[in-house]
Amino acid sequence: MSEYPIAVIVGSLRKDSFNSKLATAIAKLAPPEVLFKPVRIDDLPLYNQDDDASPAESVKRLKAEITAARGLLFVTAEYNRSIPGVLKNAIDHASRPYGKSVWAGKPAGVLGVSVGAVGTAVAQQHLRTILAYLDVPTLGQPEAFIQAKDGLFDTSGNIGPDSRKFLQDWMDRYAVWVKQHAASRVAELV
Ligand SMILES: Cc1cc2nc3c(=O)[nH]c(=O)nc-3n(C[C@H](O)[C@H](O)[C@H](O)COP(=O)(O)O)c2cc1C
Repeated sequence: MSEYPIAVIVGSLRKDSFNSKLATAIAKLAPPEVLFKPVRIDDLPLYNQDDDASPAESVKRLKAEITAARGLLFVTAEYNRSIPGVLKNAIDHASRPYGKSVWAGKPAGVLGVSVGAVGTAVAQQHLRTILAYLDVPTLGQPEAFIQAKDGLFDTSGNIGPDSRKFLQDWMDRYAVWVKQHAASRVAELV
């Protein structure tokens, strides 16, 4: 079992999603003890508070996967200057019923790629606001606002040479930060 399983939530359901590709490619830059596990969100029902007492199997699975993770990675598209509804739907599901949120205390990285020059900056800011409310600490720096351009990925789906150093640095910082967070949580518990 990996020492640091990380739940990866991609804010796009598109088959050829740049964000899905980025999530896959950046996971290859992680140290071996940090293992990124994609979390499925495309089969979640639309959140309805009436269903809190009898959640769908997909909702139970989502909550179990987040609970088992020691960290989170959000890689999201930007839709109309915010996060896509599918991502908000998943976040809402795992935050409920009231008092039973599974998000609290999980350290999260936030990344995103868009075709626009703003590179998901606005969506990421909205996401950080939501995560702050849910008591999810987010890695502040480096911020990563990535524009989808030729060469972002090489022909094997790895991060291309122009972005490689920046994203390797991002991953190195993220991995250290997740471990520091995990250590401080253990210290709180003893
Ligand atoms: C409904 C919708 C809204 C969008 N709004 C934005 C936006 O606000 N900013 C932006 O940079 N790109 C926007 N785009 C373009 C996305 O960046 C582009 O579709 C991108 O490929 C989405 O990420 P994905 O490849 O992971 O699906 C929008 C696309 C859609 C479908």
